[in-house]
Amino acid sequence: MSVQAFELRDDDRRPPISDLMEIVQRGLRARPKRLPSWLFYDERGSALFEAICKQPEYYLTRCEIDLMTAHAGEMADALGDDVRLVEYGSGNAVKTPLLLRQLRNPVAYVPVEISPEPLRQCVEDLANRFPNLPVQPLHADFTRPLRLPIPPRAPRRTVLYFPGSTIGNFEARDAVELLRKMRGEMGEGGGILIGADLKKDAATIEAAYNDKAGVTAEFTLNMLVRLNRELGSNFELQAFHHRAHYNAMAGRIETFIVSKRDQKVRVGRQQVSFAADEAMQVEYSCKYSPADFAALAARAGLEIAQTWFDPRGMFSEHYLVRAGARQATAATMPAGAQGPVVRG
Ligand code: AVI
Repeated sequence: MSVQAFELRDDDRRPPISDLMEIVQRGLRARPKRLPSWLFYDERGSALFEAICKQPEYYLTRCEIDLMTAHAGEMADALGDDVRLVEYGSGNAVKTPLLLRQLRNPVAYVPVEISPEPLRQCVEDLANRFPNLPVQPLHADFTRPLRLPIPPRAPRRTVLYFPGSTIGNFEARDAVELLRKMRGEMGEGGGILIGADLKKDAATIEAAYNDKAGVTAEFTLNMLVRLNRELGSNFELQAFHHRAHYNAMAGRIETFIVSKRDQKVRVGRQQVSFAADEAMQVEYSCKYSPADFAALAARAGLEIAQTWFDPRGMFSEHYLVRAGARQATAATMPAGAQGPVVRG
């Protein structure tokens, strides 16, 4: 592998403390109170997310790995020769080798990651596995416009790879905006390979966000630990609990931090009152039938060229191209995978 030397810029997704204070205070003034889900991912939060992925109830990761194991060869056929693969939020990039192994003469792999350590680990790991693959790591926030490194040779197309159903953590309007930005970055003949968790029975989905071992609950409450550390707030951890429930109408898991009693919390100069059982919204995890996802993609000027499912029909991977670029060739879905269409 040839790794292009990369300089770690300052982490620009983590705002300066004054901005963080402003973001949090604004969220706590909102009615209902809400805080952005990116606040989960400090070092401890990222480790807890890794642990969530190993919980028996959290089917998403295992199903996506099964899907990639079964279909990465077909994906490589769809992507064609001489691809530049740009992965959004590569993290530890567990699924990526399954795809890279199948790509035909790839021009470069560009992992885009905000956290320097996972990025470094991912590059190191790939160096051992793919000695001939040029890797051009980019330390950046993928939600912002990216300046992609100059490839070592001209790619036939640029494909943005965004696995894990992270698109589900964006509300519909923000998801469309992100897809539109990706559409620009992939260029005229490019594509987007994107993972999306499917709608299914509420019990299965709810169990995934309420694991018995309590790892997801710890992940959720870790947000308060982070705020106490970084802002000097005095959230009392024992006085809050995690709640995640599936809103079938909206097609999404809604996660809250719930106050166990009437209490006041100090955040900077702000005194924040919580009523008993008051719920502060901290994350959405949207679930998409293929029809839902096609509607979302259309709002960003994209269409589904092909879709793959894991053998159990729990998870989907879509290949998106610019609308009108070619005829959709959606794969046949396993029974039960399709849900009602909900337009956001
Ligand atoms: C990162 N993302 C796709 C996860 C999800 O399923 O929405 C984050 C997560 N939150 C709680 N459990 C997992």
